[in-house]
Amino acid sequence: MNSVVKVPETGLIHDEDTGEASFRADLQPQISRLLISSTVIAERVMGLAGDIIADVRRDSSKALQLVIVLKGATVFANALAQAIFRRNGPPIRFNYIKTSSYGRDLSSSGHVDIMGQLPYVRGRDLLIVEDIVDTGLTLHELRRYLRDERKAASVSICTLLDKPTRRLPELRQTLKLDYVGFNVPDVFVAGYGIDCAEHLRELPFIVSVNEAFFAQKQESC
Ligand code: IMP
Repeated sequence: MNSVVKVPETGLIHDEDTGEASFRADLQPQISRLLISSTVIAERVMGLAGDIIADVRRDSSKALQLVIVLKGATVFANALAQAIFRRNGPPIRFNYIKTSSYGRDLSSSGHVDIMGQLPYVRGRDLLIVEDIVDTGLTLHELRRYLRDERKAASVSICTLLDKPTRRLPELRQTLKLDYVGFNVPDVFVAGYGIDCAEHLRELPFIVSVNEAFFAQKQESC
């Protein structure tokens, strides 16, 4: 895996972004703090694009097949695709899939539902684009489905955020994340496409969610 940027509890914010830390008054009850500012995200996305291009350069005539996990990863995937273009990367194909997970252990079968049509998978090199990895169950199951059931040639993973401290012990060694934007602390985050019960997706930066707001929405978060 390429280098990961660790986000401290106090956040990663450039000096010029302090304005983002003082939220609009109506958001105050929902947000605990600014965790990653928009310019920090934009810089990191450019870095990830460079890492991905370096790895696919061997065969740059082939389109890069993204498998974007709905809904949370769409904002990140769009920014990543544009960054890959700006850095003269390969052409990109957008494919979308939706997952829902139930339960918190590997042993229960059917804990992750995978929905959506992916027509061209067999023999292809795929790059899953995810917003955040928590226990790792969703990506473990999605990767298994694409590789073992749909016979993809290879499946790489790019996630904007990772919470490594939350990983299921049995996935710590086996779930390899090829590209990780940021390691975040174990707090509930939202923004940049990531939601808390469908709230806060539209924020151009990433925040930690206010605990009282989270508790109120917890059943659906
Ligand atoms: P996993 O299967 O436990 O790795 O869960 C991954 C999914 O959980 C992500 O795609 C998100 O939908 C959701 N998730 C985990 N942590 C957060 C968070 O802090 N904020 C919002 N969604 C989260």
